[in-house]
Amino acid sequence: MTPVMQARDIRRHYAVGGGLFSPKGLVKAVDGVSFSLAAGQTLAVVGESGCGKSTLARVATLLEPSTSGELLIDGQKATDHAQLSVQMVFQNPYGSLNPRKTVGAILQEPLVINKRGDRPAREAAARAMMARVGLRADHFDRYPHMFSGGQRQRIAIARALMLNPKVVVADEPVSALDVSIQAQVLNLLMDLQDEFQLAYLFISHDLGVVRHIARDVLVMYLGRPVEFGPKEAVFARPLHPYTRVLLAATPSVDPRHRHAKVVITGELPSPLNPPPGCAFASRCPFVQPRCVAERPEPRALDGREVACHFAETIG
Ligand SMILES: Nc1ncnc2c1ncn2[C@@H]1O[C@H](COP(=O)(O)OP(=O)(O)OP(=O)(O)O)[C@@H](O)[C@H]1O
Ligand code: SF4
Ligand SMILES: [Mg+2]
Repeated sequence: MTPVMQARDIRRHYAVGGGLFSPKGLVKAVDGVSFSLAAGQTLAVVGESGCGKSTLARVATLLEPSTSGELLIDGQKATDHAQLSVQMVFQNPYGSLNPRKTVGAILQEPLVINKRGDRPAREAAARAMMARVGLRADHFDRYPHMFSGGQRQRIAIARALMLNPKVVVADEPVSALDVSIQAQVLNLLMDLQDEFQLAYLFISHDLGVVRHIARDVLVMYLGRPVEFGPKEAVFARPLHPYTRVLLAATPSVDPRHRHAKVVITGELPSPLNPPPGCAFASRCPFVQPRCVAERPEPRALDGREVACHFAETIG
């Protein structure tokens, strides 16, 4: 089966500085990420703040061009047209909905822009989608500010699905919500995935959420993939020292799978002029001279891809 989305060595670099007090530099926000995502599956992208998750999300939805690399949708090079097959749900359901439009208008807007159907057909489609995401019929004429955070995220999800996308890129879709509401929205996302065979690129810093929803996990550190593989394998036996640190720092993770605690020390290097060798070397408890000299490239090991010279010994 052709994966519905494939990323090949995607890079997104930003030229910054060049002012009076800021030297010119290059922020390598995403620096060589590859993955493949099948229909109906969820790939979670995890990693700490600033590792490039949102940048990857914007490139995957074609909101931003990549600096280099290839993005394939349904086996075809992604073009502006393919953008319709990929929709995005943002973290903040307050900022992402137009406050001056009713829910009905918000949901019909993608159909209007893309000239789909006539007025009655668009309204019927919006009403059907509202019911599908758990909104009531009388919500049609209400404005976003009249809803709770969880309901607003339902509106945002409904809007994302109006054009029947194949892939939904969700950037921290539940992290702004109360914990009690998070599970409801996650369950809705999983129901919709089954119903519409949606593929999710699901961005989250919360490994408890990821354990719940993902099939595969891509762990990023400073713009680079450090470990990528099936969730079961990655959670049960992380092979990259950074993955071990992330898992050890997640209290909600099943205690049966807890590992000897690895303490994370040292500074997160700047994404501006990152170190030449392994980006994790400044914080890695297993660092060796080779790590500083030679960058570890992702390689296949034990059913996944891992970018560490000493993954065999560490696992
Ligand atoms: N337009 C831009 N210009 C310059 N640098 C940028 C730009 N967008 C992002 N960056 C930098 O790229 C890096 C990755 O940012 P990004 O927002 O993708 O991280 P993130 O993993 O989503 O973080 P968070 O978990 O905080 O949302 C950061 O160092 C950020 O400062
Ligand atoms: S390559 Fe070296 S520094 Fe990098 S994660 Fe592996 S052991 Fe640690
Ligand atoms: Mg982000």
